[in-house]
Amino acid sequence: MGQVCIVTGDITRLKVDAIVNAANSSLLGGGGVDGAIHRAAGPQLLEYCRSMGGCPTGEARITPGFNLPAKFVIHTVGPVWRDGGHGEPGLLQDCYENSFRLAAENDIRTIAFSAISTGVYGYPKSLAAELAIKVMRRYKDDFEEIVACCFSQGDADLYHDKCSECRLMN
Ligand code: APR
Repeated sequence: MGQVCIVTGDITRLKVDAIVNAANSSLLGGGGVDGAIHRAAGPQLLEYCRSMGGCPTGEARITPGFNLPAKFVIHTVGPVWRDGGHGEPGLLQDCYENSFRLAAENDIRTIAFSAISTGVYGYPKSLAAELAIKVMRRYKDDFEEIVACCFSQGDADLYHDKCSECRLMN
């Protein structure tokens, strides 16, 4: 019986099988969590990503974690928020589902997600949290532990609110 945990902190420090990066379609790094993961993983990550030829929005790619405590990094490219009427929710859901699919294919048992698209890409945090919790709930029993890694207590509170609404917490 898997569990969903909400933690507040730096995802690069989590000792899980895989952490999920909020990347851009080039996969060549950037700011935010993408920058933090590349800094912590070391230059081999960028070298490896160069060979991958990018990633379309909504899809996911997996790489080794290199110097990270996590064994793998799953890079997914979230949608840029416009007004919610340009397929953003479907693409964000694809990010979570494709990340879970890749994780299952690689026998990953513990996985931590950053809050995809809720920074630079401007996706409203509450809507993103609601969607993330909905998908995590569906995959809960396929993994030992699913972690929603929030970078602030305010973000974590949003997830807790959404979890209590759907009584997800164990
Ligand atoms: N650990 C966990 N979460 C983090 C960390 C970290 N070290 N750093 C930032 N975050 C959080 C942000 O607070 C936000 O909630 O990750 C979430 C995603 O924000 P961004 O990193 O800005 O990602 P996103 O909104 O998906 O924009 C992606 O930003 O960094 C570039 O290359 C990236 O172009 C891409 C774009």
